[in-house]
Amino acid sequence: MGSALLHGWVDEPDIKFIDVLDPRLKEPIEHLKVTNHQSASTLGDKIGAADIVVLAVKPQIMDKACEQIKEALSENTLILSIAAGQTIESFEQRFGENQPIIRAMPNTPAAIGKGITVLCANNHVSDEQKKNAETLLAASGLVEWLNDESLMDAVTAVSGSGPAYVFLLIEILAKAGKTQGLDPDLSMKLARQTVIGSAALAEGDVGTTATQLRENVTSPGGTTAAALEVLMNGELQKLYDRTIDAATKRGKELSS
Ligand SMILES: NC(=O)c1ccc[n+]([C@@H]2O[C@H](COP(=O)([O-])OP(=O)(O)OC[C@H]3O[C@@H](n4cnc5c(N)ncnc54)[C@H](OP(=O)(O)O)[C@@H]3O)[C@@H](O)[C@H]2O)c1
Repeated sequence: MGSALLHGWVDEPDIKFIDVLDPRLKEPIEHLKVTNHQSASTLGDKIGAADIVVLAVKPQIMDKACEQIKEALSENTLILSIAAGQTIESFEQRFGENQPIIRAMPNTPAAIGKGITVLCANNHVSDEQKKNAETLLAASGLVEWLNDESLMDAVTAVSGSGPAYVFLLIEILAKAGKTQGLDPDLSMKLARQTVIGSAALAEGDVGTTATQLRENVTSPGGTTAAALEVLMNGELQKLYDRTIDAATKRGKELSS
């Protein structure tokens, strides 16, 4: 996820320098603005001088990652975490309760500028820092703010994990086409391009609701109507309620 965001930042004129700290540097980004580091020791004074430190490691190793930078960090530096389930309070405990902290939940379409990120800040984040964080995340798509941090797990469940549900939809649609006798490759091509094309239609027509977009392609008594009768009998909604509930609960577990 960190490199997905980074791809957007290298082209953003307001972002002048980026230092990446990654112990194994498997996929270093070679760019004039980017300096890659394998250890905090080569970062030197840069941690203390940073406007924003972005934390993009798995929640399970967040403690270790924070330990590496804690001593050198300035109390005015904005900490921006993208980790699922890691609360603002947990970062206040790690860095001190006066540290400006923003908890963010982006998603992987950020890599092509089509992500959406929700941000939630503690009271020590200045208006300028909020603007800077917004600039940073706007480089990879839409940005929304949330005041109630307890809803961040639901955001994670819907949009953070959401791309995986859409990819699964492609797989399922392709399998169903194969069951009807279509060649597997053709069925996969049909399913994939249908999701791509439908997403593009939704993107090009932001003023039209999803319900309206669906109704526009459904003639009464036709094939789409027959299919939707199966999908809209309530079971799919219940399945998605359970899906989002499971992801939300996992987010809460990760924060405890
Ligand atoms: N993936 C998503 O769709 C998504 C969406 C929203 C938010 N997030 C959040 O983004 C965070 C990262 O998730 P991910 O899926 O991108 O995980 P990931 O692919 O494992 O990326 C984490 C990166 O951090 C590196 N790393 C490991 N230890 C480190 C340390 N001590 N200091 C600095 N870097 C270190 C890892 O290197 P190695 O691989 O060599 O260990 C890896 O390159 C998570 O907290 C997740 O909740 C992910």
